[in-house]
Amino acid sequence: MNREKVICPCYHVTKGDVADAVKNGASSFKEVKKATKAGKGCGKCKKKVKKLTKKLLEKQA
Ligand code: FES
Repeated sequence: MNREKVICPCYHVTKGDVADAVKNGASSFKEVKKATKAGKGCGKCKKKVKKLTKKLLEKQA
């Protein structure tokens, strides 16, 4: 995973930011959104952020 890759341009949230949010206890898209703001703007990134969150949670389990 490229941590520097921006997944939500609206708030300049990177994949690394999402990974850190999950590491710090976010266990759903909603919580990742709360922690990183990803998905709070136009909403275009929602699918991608959801998918990445799911992937990260599966890895963690
Ligand atoms: S790209 Fe994430 S809210 Fe717009």
